[in-house]
Amino acid sequence: MKAQNLEELEALRIKYLSKKGEITSLFSDFRNVPNEQKREIGQLLNELKTAAADRLQEMKEVFEAQKADAEKLDLTRTPDPIPMGTRHPLSLVREEIVDIFSHIGFTVAEGPEVEDDKHVYGMLNFAPEHPARDMQDTFFIEKEVGVQKPTDVLLRSHTSSVQTRVMTSQKPPIRVLCPGRVYRNEAISARAHCFFHQVEGLYIDKDVSFADLRQVLLYFAREMFGADTKIRLRPSYFPFTEPSAEMDISCNICGGTGCSFCKGTGWVEILGCGMVDPNVLESCGIDSKEYTGFAFGMGVERITNLKYRVKDLRLFSENDIRFLQQFESC
Ligand code: PHE
Repeated sequence: MKAQNLEELEALRIKYLSKKGEITSLFSDFRNVPNEQKREIGQLLNELKTAAADRLQEMKEVFEAQKADAEKLDLTRTPDPIPMGTRHPLSLVREEIVDIFSHIGFTVAEGPEVEDDKHVYGMLNFAPEHPARDMQDTFFIEKEVGVQKPTDVLLRSHTSSVQTRVMTSQKPPIRVLCPGRVYRNEAISARAHCFFHQVEGLYIDKDVSFADLRQVLLYFAREMFGADTKIRLRPSYFPFTEPSAEMDISCNICGGTGCSFCKGTGWVEILGCGMVDPNVLESCGIDSKEYTGFAFGMGVERITNLKYRVKDLRLFSENDIRFLQQFESC
């Protein structure tokens, strides 16, 4: 029998060392031991008794210490706090963008990252020989491993592909935001990566004008970068919008006076936009005589860089805990 606590230990003491205990009773039998063996047996008996008593005392101290510890235990204490993770900066900024546009009626639409040529380029008025389709810009997916046959399966290079999917499956009025990851065949450096994130927007209804586009973007810029933010639209070109523009905001780092971030100009480019080309509406089954619309697209990394001044794009995908921990958790 092995004692597990003070009570069981006491039972053992009674069994062996009490007045009628087994070891004690050996002493009463001692007188029957022949004289010539008395010395030897007597010594053994004493050794046995001391060893048993010592062991009992030792165990008693162990059990008493355990009991004292258990009494010290504060069961009302909260368990060790589990460290909270932090939100990825790109998620924080994407959610902030989505939140700003949700206040003026935009809802989120998502679509596949592995797409076909039709949704990424064809229906968006890209000419068949447009350089964006080039292998240098677009990742194509081989249908059979190692066999590079012409294929129209690709990784989307912009989330405008979600807009074509929405336009072909919903009737106007349409007011959607398309956040998601996109891929481009770029050499990886501090300023470019082979994947990044976009939020694109699309608004189609009767009588939507360029003035509506400008006002929506001004609202966004002020919500995102502060009430003093100014915007400027520069003419540009995209196959799927006409007219097209690129939008700059007054540099939020120097406040427009000129710094190294804005290369002394006081302005930084944040997005592309324009009125949806009638060819795009028609190819998606929307009557371009009845409806007009605008679209815009921005890179989440770019907006995040402006907000948090991250200098190297690679930090966003390296999962370095020292970088990630700097962002609030909520
Ligand atoms: N799709 C464009 C890009 O990826 C952005 C854009 C969207 C421009 C909508 C104009 C209108 O660069």
